[in-house]
Amino acid sequence: MRSKIVAGNWKMNLTFDEADEVLDKLMTNLEEHAALSCKMIVCTPYPYLELASDYSGDSYFEVGAQDVSAYDKGAYTGEVSAAMLGSMEIAYCIVGHSERRAYHNESDELIARKVDRLLENDIRPIVCCGEVLEEREADKQFEVVKRQVTDGLFHLTPEQFGKLIIAYEPVWAIGTGKTATPEQAQEMHAYIRSLIAEKYGKVVAEETSILYGGSCKPSNAKELFANPDVDGGLIGGASLNADDFMAIAESLK
Ligand code: PGA
Repeated sequence: MRSKIVAGNWKMNLTFDEADEVLDKLMTNLEEHAALSCKMIVCTPYPYLELASDYSGDSYFEVGAQDVSAYDKGAYTGEVSAAMLGSMEIAYCIVGHSERRAYHNESDELIARKVDRLLENDIRPIVCCGEVLEEREADKQFEVVKRQVTDGLFHLTPEQFGKLIIAYEPVWAIGTGKTATPEQAQEMHAYIRSLIAEKYGKVVAEETSILYGGSCKPSNAKELFANPDVDGGLIGGASLNADDFMAIAESLK
């Protein structure tokens, strides 16, 4: 059975004190509520990884980073390596987010190398894919996502592929308040699973968690998560509020 997952993507938000407050509230929520039926991951900015790890303690939630260098180590000022994250026992890392693709010109080829570095260091990549509005309007969403998944991930062995978490995030739905309909999400998730099945077989495809991301909030999470191929969410804005993030996690059964 594949895992149900709710992952928070804090992006470049919160000061240290604000981060401390959100994590503290999240821990209180987790302690006070019944055990979740999903795995919770919080992907913080690099400077807060250790703080989040200290809070996560006895596995109430797990901690992830938001990006990683494609290089091993050396003269790459400002970069953070997978080995560094691994040495801090960071278990997850987002790669290929549409904001990285758009503002940092990240290609599928670069994303493939980042995925490789993470896997070499036993970190599970949360790999994002998704089309922009013009592509959806031109009915090119399947073509775009197929290229991202194929060029970014299909060089992996089945064993390596089994470590991935995929996140489908239609770019037109990210931070815009516009959510994909449950039907649109299900249609794309089923398509991604069919691509995986074609390449790696049904067992690998059935075991891969595919998350939805893009303006997911407490009011729409339940109907998105009710779809058979939607295994949870990658949550941006709503993960900055511990009550909203908790409510989203609780709607994933
Ligand atoms: P959003 O972001 O929930 O704020 O739309 C999702 C994401 O970019 O991961």
